[in-house]
Amino acid sequence: MANNGVSRIEHAPREYHEYPGAQYALPTDDAEHQRLLLQHNSIKSLFDNRILLAPVTLRPNDRVLDSGAGPGLWALDFAQSVDPAVHILGIDIASRLFPVSPPQNVAFQVGSVTNLPPDWTDTFTLVHQRLLMLALQIPEWTQALREIYRVLRPGGWVQLGESIAWFEGEYPDKPCMEKLVSLYRSLTKSRNLYIDCASHMPALLKEIGFIDIQAEERPLLMGKWAGADGVANATTNVGVFRGIKTPVLEAGGYGKVTTESEYDALVEGLEKEWEEIPGTKKEFVMFWARKPIN
Ligand SMILES: C[S@@+](CC[C@H](N)C(=O)[O-])C[C@H]1O[C@@H](n2cnc3c(N)ncnc32)[C@H](O)[C@@H]1O
Repeated sequence: MANNGVSRIEHAPREYHEYPGAQYALPTDDAEHQRLLLQHNSIKSLFDNRILLAPVTLRPNDRVLDSGAGPGLWALDFAQSVDPAVHILGIDIASRLFPVSPPQNVAFQVGSVTNLPPDWTDTFTLVHQRLLMLALQIPEWTQALREIYRVLRPGGWVQLGESIAWFEGEYPDKPCMEKLVSLYRSLTKSRNLYIDCASHMPALLKEIGFIDIQAEERPLLMGKWAGADGVANATTNVGVFRGIKTPVLEAGGYGKVTTESEYDALVEGLEKEWEEIPGTKKEFVMFWARKPIN
């Protein structure tokens, strides 16, 4: 089948979002749900069990937005630490993974962070957003941060978590990883996704008008050389390479792979490289910033 002039590579496709215009590259299926759960716990552990770093105190009737909530893991976890009269709302372009029966003060609805409802202006005390690096195009990041700024009440806080993307040419001792990173870069470049957003986040936040911009960076270590956390981090990150297989093969493999089994062999090779060669790591950065009071 032709796809923008390139031939798609035959494979068993996974399930993806159907939101018009969105370029999000990861699946929305049960395997991805399990990956996100493991990832939520790994990131929580990396930051000493803190899921809120912004210095915000929530009061009854305050509103909290979890943008790009997915299965709502952060929202549900956060709900356990606040007064049940705090209202938590998760939004996402796909509803497939929304929790079926959340607590009464937690709700979910379909929507894009690039275009939030007009009547939300100045209403949220906290906006949380984590891992949209494979979701938003370069100009959409500015648009999303502008929308988050708009919906925050004056004095409200945003907290963003993103990781530093893999770079090509940095893993000469890991040929499977090198090739997969090259495919990952080709895919994200072809979709104009801002995977290097974390490196530019403080400047983006400042440009929108946020103040008190702060960041905390910690390394996610990959592989059993780094203990149980290393095994979990490797599993979640191998899962990303599995998750982009369908979009890579739909795009024809970028001249780098020609069959599904070739792609699968690269992922298996990557798992082995991370298991056998110590040292692979990926920085994760938590940012927080405040909307000025006036
Ligand atoms: C990698 S998942 C992270 C989910 C969750 N934030 C977490 O950390 O567990 C990214 C999520 O962003 C959602 N997403 C992608 N584009 C979006 C957009 N424009 N607006 C809102 N959500 C979006 C995806 O559907 C997906 O659920």
